[in-house]
Amino acid sequence: MTSLPVIDIDPFGTEVLTDPYPLERALLDAGPLSYLSAHGIYAVARYDAVYAALRNWQGFQSGAGVGLSNFRTEKPWRQLSIVVEADPPHHDAPRRVLANLLGPRAQRRLRAEWMAKAHKMVGKVLDGTPGSTVEFDAVTAIAEKFPPRAVGDALGLPEEGRENLLPFSDFLLNAFGPRNELVAAGAPHAKFLTTWVMEHCRRDALTEDGLGGQIWAAADRGEITHEQAPGVVRSLFAAGFNTTVHALAAVMHALVTHPEQWARLRAEPSLARIAFDEAVRWASPVQTFFRTAVGDVPVGDHVVPDGAKVLMFLGAANRDPRRWADPEKFDLSRDPSGHVGFGFGLHQCVGQNLARLEAECLITALAERVETLELAAPGERRLNNTLRAWHSIPVRARLA
Ligand code: HEM
Repeated sequence: MTSLPVIDIDPFGTEVLTDPYPLERALLDAGPLSYLSAHGIYAVARYDAVYAALRNWQGFQSGAGVGLSNFRTEKPWRQLSIVVEADPPHHDAPRRVLANLLGPRAQRRLRAEWMAKAHKMVGKVLDGTPGSTVEFDAVTAIAEKFPPRAVGDALGLPEEGRENLLPFSDFLLNAFGPRNELVAAGAPHAKFLTTWVMEHCRRDALTEDGLGGQIWAAADRGEITHEQAPGVVRSLFAAGFNTTVHALAAVMHALVTHPEQWARLRAEPSLARIAFDEAVRWASPVQTFFRTAVGDVPVGDHVVPDGAKVLMFLGAANRDPRRWADPEKFDLSRDPSGHVGFGFGLHQCVGQNLARLEAECLITALAERVETLELAAPGERRLNNTLRAWHSIPVRARLA
């Protein structure tokens, strides 16, 4: 038996958050399980190992927190999610309610409305005549705008205060890492943002027919308790906005920097969904999250001891050459299904098809209007302990 590989690089350090690939490759080479000494945690990065670990909810629980803090031994300093940080049986009812609400019926209902919203937004940004050139920022003009508009309306939120949505989940997703300078930078606003969100999880802040109101209606039917309802609404605030913002930014960045793939997509717009999933595989906007070992859990030739925190490297698994041919290539010929960018198993993203629909609407609207795309200046990253995020992607588009 070989000894457990020990890596002393901080996965939440500025260097890794700026460029995660050297650490990911080191983890993939090291084996199915490594130890990250900077935080005294275990790491799983190979595709097969991540897949198996996410499936094993009995061995790797979420209920002790999907961040670095171990709420089995530490008093929670932040509010736990009653969805993503709950294990069965507590997870079952909230998950069922969300799966029902965000399922195929909602997608059918929202499709025409979101297509119209995407065309309107893209039309405003691409204000020019055919053959002219337009410059815009794919992050601030489109990616950051669309989810608050589309999902905010679907949720049944008032217009006022939507500017709090992205800072709230930015802070929350940073808080899954250590209390580093990224968490400190968001801390002064955290109380205000959390209060704003909790106020908007209340029934009287939400329209009756929106997703939020329907969660409360599910409580009236006894599918969840009335005490659970605000927590279930809150899970949409936490997980439904920034994740998609940076996935939309990722797919736009991928298409802007791969002109041949853009040409292909324009010729065959039905590739929009493949393009989105391939971008989620290629860029993994949600890079990592934690589980906690329940009992001693074997991984490969080694064991994760009871109570230890394990970091799942979705980004590394999505680029593991044991699973993907030419993994670093963004390629619309590939079948990206099976990527773990939305997680896997019991907690696999319950909003993934809504995210896909948002992307399909935007990409379709862009493909109708834009002949060629290029970077107008280098993109700028926004660092986050969980997200692979963008601050800005300046784009130059020639209109069709
Ligand atoms: C769970 C990623 C969009 C709601 C997750 C998980 C991942 C993820 C990786 C699993 C976390 C874990 O296993 O601990 C993403 C990405 C998105 C996206 C990359 C965009 C491309 C959305 C949207 C919504 C949403 C649009 C809601 C409208 C949720 C919820 C959970 C979740 C409620 C918790 C599910 C559970 O624990 O059963 N997401 N998500 N997500 N996501 Fe998403």
